Amino acid sequence: MDIRRRTVQLDSEAIARLFPADVSVCIASPDMYRARLFPAEAALLARAVERRRAEFTAGRAAARAALARFGLPACPIPRGPGREPVWPRGFSGSITHCDGFCCAVVTRVSELPSLGIDVEAGGPLEDSVARLICRPEEFAHFAGLPDLPGASWARLAFSAKEAFHKCCYPLTGQMLDFLDVRVRFAASDGTATGTFTMAVVAPGRGRALPPHSTMGAWAVDDARVYAAVAARAPMLL
Ligand SMILES: CC(C)(COP(=O)(O)OP(=O)(O)OC[C@H]1O[C@@H](n2cnc3c(N)ncnc32)[C@H](O)[C@@H]1OP(=O)(O)O)[C@@H](O)C(=O)NCCC(=O)NCCS
Repeated sequence: MDIRRRTVQLDSEAIARLFPADVSVCIASPDMYRARLFPAEAALLARAVERRRAEFTAGRAAARAALARFGLPACPIPRGPGREPVWPRGFSGSITHCDGFCCAVVTRVSELPSLGIDVEAGGPLEDSVARLICRPEEFAHFAGLPDLPGASWARLAFSAKEAFHKCCYPLTGQMLDFLDVRVRFAASDGTATGTFTMAVVAPGRGRALPPHSTMGAWAVDDARVYAAVAARAPMLL
């Protein structure tokens, strides 16, 4: 069984479809890597190397463009104690960058109180790294899944766990290790996208998790793997 590989790269509409509500997605354009920052943001880069400056700048510019689609004027997006972006009141979002690709997703808190997006370059994950990311029962689960051309399930698990962290941390302030959580993917033959569930399996962890943050969606294309997690408001359950 083979999952058909996409021939094009995911666009912002396809990324938006990974979320269960109306989100605004902006994939950074080349000029966004040289955009102007607000002074409070530029101050965060005092000791940053050029590459880091560029990716941070693209993330902030993409986030502002995504927020503008909700009618929000440009405003600073500072950084919280866990390095998370601090979104304007009433909005939630997430930022990811990898190898010349950067995107920001935002929505209203009333739709989704928190979001996590993670994008990683495709290809397999080195075995020594995969063992730090995935639990033994996850490897057994991957072995029963269809092939994932251009990437591996371990690589996708890495991305899914990072998206999960980005979604949960702003709400819980809790740091989780990769091996504290277990992912299970659902995949159907003939598509390069699917869903996943995430369970916190470390004893005593995860009690503060927001409702529905344990559901996510994934996609792969020729270049990258994509993972999205959203926390839903309790009243929307
Ligand atoms: C934070 C982390 C997830 C970022 O992932 P990454 O693949 O290295 O980098 P990405 O480009 O995809 O994402 C970086 C962006 O994530 C966001 N981010 C960083 N820390 C965050 C946090 N605690 N909560 C939410 N978002 C966060 C930031 O916007 C950052 O970009 P910026 O600094 O330019 O604003 C990762 O570095 C990390 O610390 N992982 C350990 C924790 C974890 O993932 N556990 C998994 C088990 S749940």
